[in-house]
Amino acid sequence: MDQQALKRGAAEAALAEVEEHGIVGVGSGSTVDAFIDVLARSMLPVKGVIAASAASERLLHARGLPVLGLADIDRLPVYIDGADEIDPQLNLIKGGGGALTREKVLAELSERFICIADASKRVERLGRFPLPIEVVSYARSFVARRLVALGGQPVWRQDYLTDNGNPILDVHGLQLDAPLQIERTLEALPGVVTVGIFARRRPELALIAAPEGVLALPRPAAASAAPAAGG
Ligand code: A5P
Repeated sequence: MDQQALKRGAAEAALAEVEEHGIVGVGSGSTVDAFIDVLARSMLPVKGVIAASAASERLLHARGLPVLGLADIDRLPVYIDGADEIDPQLNLIKGGGGALTREKVLAELSERFICIADASKRVERLGRFPLPIEVVSYARSFVARRLVALGGQPVWRQDYLTDNGNPILDVHGLQLDAPLQIERTLEALPGVVTVGIFARRRPELALIAAPEGVLALPRPAAASAAPAAGG
């Protein structure tokens, strides 16, 4: 089974998450493109779709789906998006396609965040995929030096600006064993717009397509704090 067929399998499974006449959010990337296609072909009536990238928005228009903007909605019942890496706790790395900031906004707004992917995206630990970080141009070299001090090797994504007009640093070699802490640490650096770790807002569900079928992985509860000594 080729990867495209797997992406389509995950996209088809996600259709069950969309409410009739409801609003749905979509992220960006080839798996989301498959979902947009599945949604359009399903003829399921939707009130509107909000997209995390200009590319997804173009595809929605091309498929004749009703497109909404962020200012049009105050709640987002479901958000469907892909990922570059997914660990067993459903922490994600995203942003390979550069849409991480708007993806994080929609994930945050959503009541249910569903991650769709083929099985190649599953990893035991995040970090093989270089971590995308969107920065403001002015602070690019400053942030890059801080990332080096933290043990990373940032690579400027050349000839590329996000839909927000900002550059991206793809960071290799960072230790991501504590994804929530590193997400917070990096997002606190002045000049950083968005870090491509999705640990604070993990998906409620991942639909992972493998040749044997689509695996539905609910989000495990966050690890609880260790009990107090003697308690
Ligand atoms: C876009 O910025 C990313 O976050 C995508 O979700 C990610 O790159 C997955 O893309 P594919 O579905 O093309 O693998």
